[in-house]
Amino acid sequence: MTKRIAVVASGRGSNFQAVIDAIGDGLIPARCVALITDNPKAFAIERARRADIPVTIVDYTSFPSREVYEKALLEVMRQVNADLFVLAGYMRILGKDLVREFAGEMVNIHPALLPSFTGLHAQRQAIQHGVKIAGCTVHFVDEHLDGGPIILQLCVPVFEGDDEASLAERILEEEHLALPEAVRLFCEDRLTIEGRIVRIR
Ligand code: GRF
Repeated sequence: MTKRIAVVASGRGSNFQAVIDAIGDGLIPARCVALITDNPKAFAIERARRADIPVTIVDYTSFPSREVYEKALLEVMRQVNADLFVLAGYMRILGKDLVREFAGEMVNIHPALLPSFTGLHAQRQAIQHGVKIAGCTVHFVDEHLDGGPIILQLCVPVFEGDDEASLAERILEEEHLALPEAVRLFCEDRLTIEGRIVRIR
């Protein structure tokens, strides 16, 4: 059955675009029913408009506190009534209530091979640590930052002359494969979570 997915993004939205394209190509049995963003300037909004996807802006800066913002976001997420929420470059930490409510129904893409290099500037952390292999991870979201059960990981080499930008670009190409693939597996009902372990049927 066709699933309803909603994407939550804060910026450029190239991962969002990869999901839009995969749906358009018939690779994912889903309809993208909403883009939700905390940033009125996000280029993701333009991508949604081009693809005829309804946009809801929950502008973080217009709320008096993080708590009030989170309540508004939660309400919007309830209303879109999605089977799956896809965090694609959402740059804020989600509150515990929200994470609990959508447990098992929310995935995130992170530009590192978790559990290494959680949080911001993961590619910079990888360069500074001197790893020889880097990559990306798609995982279910739980209450730990970038810590939920792992669905898929793709890796890339780190070369001698790499800097943060060149590594980020190489990883991003893999993100654009990994995220649509993980969304497809979810939408085909092929994922089950057993504790920390995601089984793929
Ligand atoms: C990606 O590298 C993603 O892994 C990270 O933020 C970046 C967002 O890029 N969480 P985009 O907005 O999808 O182009």
